[in-house]
Amino acid sequence: ERKKVIFSAIQPSGTITLGNYLGALKNWISLQDEYNCIYALADLHTITVRQDPAKFRHNTLEAYALLLACGLDPEKSPFFIQSQVCTHAQLAWILNCYTQFGELQRMTQFKDKAAKHADNVNAGLFTYPSLMAADILLYQADLVPVGADQKQHLELARNIAERFNGIYSPTFTVPDGYIPKKGARIMSLQDPSKKMSKSDENVNGYVAVLDKPEVILRKFKRAVTDSDACVRYAEGKDGINNLMGIYSVVTGLSYEQIEKDFEGKGYGDFKAAVGEAVVEHLRPIQERYADYIKNKDYLEKCYTEGAQKALAISSRTLNKVMKKVGF
Ligand code: ADP
Ligand code: NA
Repeated sequence: ERKKVIFSAIQPSGTITLGNYLGALKNWISLQDEYNCIYALADLHTITVRQDPAKFRHNTLEAYALLLACGLDPEKSPFFIQSQVCTHAQLAWILNCYTQFGELQRMTQFKDKAAKHADNVNAGLFTYPSLMAADILLYQADLVPVGADQKQHLELARNIAERFNGIYSPTFTVPDGYIPKKGARIMSLQDPSKKMSKSDENVNGYVAVLDKPEVILRKFKRAVTDSDACVRYAEGKDGINNLMGIYSVVTGLSYEQIEKDFEGKGYGDFKAAVGEAVVEHLRPIQERYADYIKNKDYLEKCYTEGAQKALAISSRTLNKVMKKVGF
């Protein structure tokens, strides 16, 4: 039986946080055996926001090395940089012509980003979802892991695929969303009502996967909690709930076990334990990252091979599409 195809991509737009890692990337790694996974750095999407060229190039290489360090195996899962595979921009253009202006106008992420970057509401920001549809549909993906913020985009990709299939004949697999069995939504350490994000103005709100151990320990020490002074998972204890979630994922301990272990202990002890557990969890990743990032030749070999594999697979879809359209 054919393994199902999973496609997922992340933008190389700077710092990769513990939230990105526990919420998305850790799952990428664990899906590699059960599925036929195809992974990408979506750098074409990144230029919808103006980038400094040198920093952008560095961020892309850093993200590539970090994903390998997290355990992404490019032999098992083709792993490429989107801008190096020309089929993405080509299919995105074609799909633009099968996507209605009104559909794109309804995307809540466009409205949010247009409000946030009011000085640069470019056409790429507007047509971002048809490029994302191209990314997914080129690989005939069955499943696409998506967070809440991407659900509407995936729905649009499904609609575009169904529309194209309907006008011509079955061409694209219509992808389903994949909800990971163990999805972790990590909240800000400074304001546990919002998700942990690198765009937090307060750097103490997020932990970067590449933060130094002393920085990680300090950020957890400063994490916002409550006045209850009791380590237990309960409604209204968002700060502690978030720390328990993080601690549970990195140690494998259940909430019951954590509550037992910290009975009679204060938040200071607990926050120190969470910080240390995260440091230990990230240590081997950081060590491997340091090796990969020094080895530019190896990285280049990996992403070049990844791009070749991706081009071979995606060209089959693009050729079919072009024939059907009449090119
Ligand atoms: P950021 O908010 O750091 O810019 P993105 O919006 O680029 O992150 O998301 C990249 C991936 O990481 C997505 O799959 C998203 O669902 C996941 N992700 C981002 N932040 C978190 C978080 N705090 N908890 C869990 N998953 C997250
Ligand atoms: Na974001």
